[in-house]
This record gives sequence, C-alpha cells and structure tokens, in this order.
Amino acid sequence: MTSEMEREVLVSRWRKNVYREVAREGDRIIKRYRIPPHIKRYTKPWKCEHPALVQLAALGFPKSYGYKTIQTAEGIEIVHTRDYIPGTPIETYGEQEARDMGVLLARIHSGLVVTDDAQGHNFIRNESGDMQFIDFGKARIFTHHSPRFFLRVGHELFDAKRMPFSNNRKLGRQLIDAYMSATSLSPITRNMVQIGITSAAFTRWFKNTLHLRTIKHALRRIGSRQGAARSSNPQKT
Ligand SMILES: Nc1ncnc2c1ncn2[C@@H]1O[C@H](COP(=O)(O)OP(=O)(O)O)[C@@H](O)[C@H]1O
Ligand SMILES: [Mg+2]
Repeated sequence: MTSEMEREVLVSRWRKNVYREVAREGDRIIKRYRIPPHIKRYTKPWKCEHPALVQLAALGFPKSYGYKTIQTAEGIEIVHTRDYIPGTPIETYGEQEARDMGVLLARIHSGLVVTDDAQGHNFIRNESGDMQFIDFGKARIFTHHSPRFFLRVGHELFDAKRMPFSNNRKLGRQLIDAYMSATSLSPITRNMVQIGITSAAFTRWFKNTLHLRTIKHALRRIGSRQGAARSSNPQKT
C-alpha cells in the first residue's frame, strides 16, 4: 500500500468540464477523471489506455492494473492505475530520436496497437536511455492486420514525422527508415503502410486547402438560419 505522503500530482487540468489528474504514487501512475452529473458526452481515455497496455504487456510494455468507477456526490470518478516509468522528458527531437521513435512505433504496432497520439510530450526516455511512450489514452486496438489497421499505422507515422519533428524531411525519412528496418511486416504490408502515409498526407492537404472547417461552419450557420426562418414563419410549413 502506498501512503498519502508519496502522492505527487504531475498534471491536473479541466478539459470539456471533465477534471483530469495524473499523479505518481510510488511505482504507479494514478489517473483520475471526475465527470460532473450533467455531463453526458465525454471521452473515455481509460477505455483505450487500459486494454492497449494489456494487449502490449506480452511485448514487455509497462503494465496497467485496471480502472474503477466511483459514484460520488459530485458525479462519477474514474481511477485508472498503471506502471510509472522513471525517466526524463525528451527536450529535442533529432536524428537519434527519429531512429528510436521508428523502432518504438514498430514495436507498438507489432502488438496491433496504434497510439493515435504521437506527439512529442508523450514520449520519454527511461533510466536506461530507451524511448518509451506514456499516453495510450487515444490508442486504437486491433485484432488482426486489416486495411483499417494499415491506414491508422500510416496516419500515425505521418503524425510522428509532422509533430515531434516539425515536418523536417531528413528526420522524417530517418524515422520511416528505422521503422521499416525494425518492423516484421512483409513487403506487401509495408506498401500498405506507405499507402496509409500517403492517404494521411492527402487528407491533411485536402483539409488545409479546402478549409473544411470553415465550410462546415458556414453550412451550419445557413442551416440554423433556415431553421430560425421556418420557426418564425410557421404558416408556410
Ligand atoms: N507512466 C508514466 N510514467 C512516467 N510519467 C508519466 C507516466 N504517465 C504520465 N506521466 C507524466 O504525466 C504527464 C501527463 O500524462 P499523460 O498520460 O500524457 O496525460 P494527459 O496527456 O492527459 O495530460 C506526462 O507528460 C508525463 O510527464
Ligand atoms: Mg499526454
């Protein structure tokens, strides 16, 4: 049993009316999510992180010990417990990081898990100097190699090149080379990963070029104006 004295809150924040806290208690990480009663729709990172770590445990990844739901006067509280990884955040992303990330992502994908959150602050170096991924709160879990799996893998690699490495072409190339050397995928499935990367690049270009968000907002505004006009002119309907 860990005592209150050992408890160290690492991060706490509110996100969309849900309180999230990441604390260290000895060799465990305790993630708490407090959801007020009036909030009906919310993301459930514990439902991704726990099964992802369970699936990866056989490959030597840190363990997850499950989560419990506690009913309180202020709503519900989810408490998820997983292994703490002693280490340090990665400050700069250079050639070594590109190679290490390629190898690490190949390992995670070999367990049929895609993190879907390959951002710089989710990677750390453990005490042996190995790169580790710490946040499986958005992970997608697969049961077999499927077109969707390769698509998500491609998107993950595209994000990894873009975010921690700021789209640096040379580092991005090194990451993919390291990934392809480390992966046990067959030549055909490697091509599917490449197709996934291209599809991610295309999706991003498409979104940026067409300003899809602006178009969506405009359509929504037109829709709500039409709705308002209809309700102020009820005799026409
Ligand atoms: N298993 C872990 N081992 C070591 N540090 C961790 C671990 N999990 C989280 N942390 C620390 O807590 C921070 C926030 O955790 P994270 O799971 O990324 O939550 P969120 O992204 O929701 O804020 C991380 O950036 C890291 O510093
Ligand atoms: Mg995170």
